[in-house]
Amino acid sequence: MALQLGDIAPNFTAETTEGTINYHEWLGDSWGVLFSHPADYTPVCTTELGRTAKLKEEFDKRNVKVCALSVDSLEDHKGWILDINATQHTSVNFPIIADENKEVAEKYGMLHPNASTTFTVRSVFIIDPDKKIRLTITYPASTGRNFNEILRVIDSMQLTDQYSVATPVDWKKGDKVVVAPTIPTEEARKKFPNEVEEIRPYLRLTDL
Ligand code: BEZ
Repeated sequence: MALQLGDIAPNFTAETTEGTINYHEWLGDSWGVLFSHPADYTPVCTTELGRTAKLKEEFDKRNVKVCALSVDSLEDHKGWILDINATQHTSVNFPIIADENKEVAEKYGMLHPNASTTFTVRSVFIIDPDKKIRLTITYPASTGRNFNEILRVIDSMQLTDQYSVATPVDWKKGDKVVVAPTIPTEEARKKFPNEVEEIRPYLRLTDL
């Protein structure tokens, strides 16, 4: 069965461009983003990995370790990194797993045979410090991902883990949040530091 939210992210040991890693040990107490791409030396993937490298500071701020994967060889990854660095004006600063035997891809369901019989699709897994899978998204090969969206979801999860709130449509850091439906408005008004606006008894907004 496909991995689901709340499942423990399967552990693995793999060869990467930064040496052999045991995934759970490598994550330690960090959050993780594990994402697959179809193939090295392809245009969309080149832009995606370049963008990821440029976002290192943003991932670090959120205590997130990023790791990429494809079924290409370590040698291919290493050669391609030089191209990513040159064409995207960056320096790849995260490991890329060389999953030639497809062991990790199989564990995470990154191979979708009806989409491609050879390549991994564009899967994204966000994993929390308890190693639980908190988000999965799958994109087709022809569509590059929006890494700002990945950061946005991490911001939401880190906030909603801390307070009894949820984040509404198109929320971004600094916007109003919604009070969890389990908290009555009067209680919410005592609990939260800022005004709680009641639009409906089940729809209450506040700033955090
Ligand atoms: C790309 O990264 O450009 C790509 C990879 C596989 C299929 C289509 C596009």
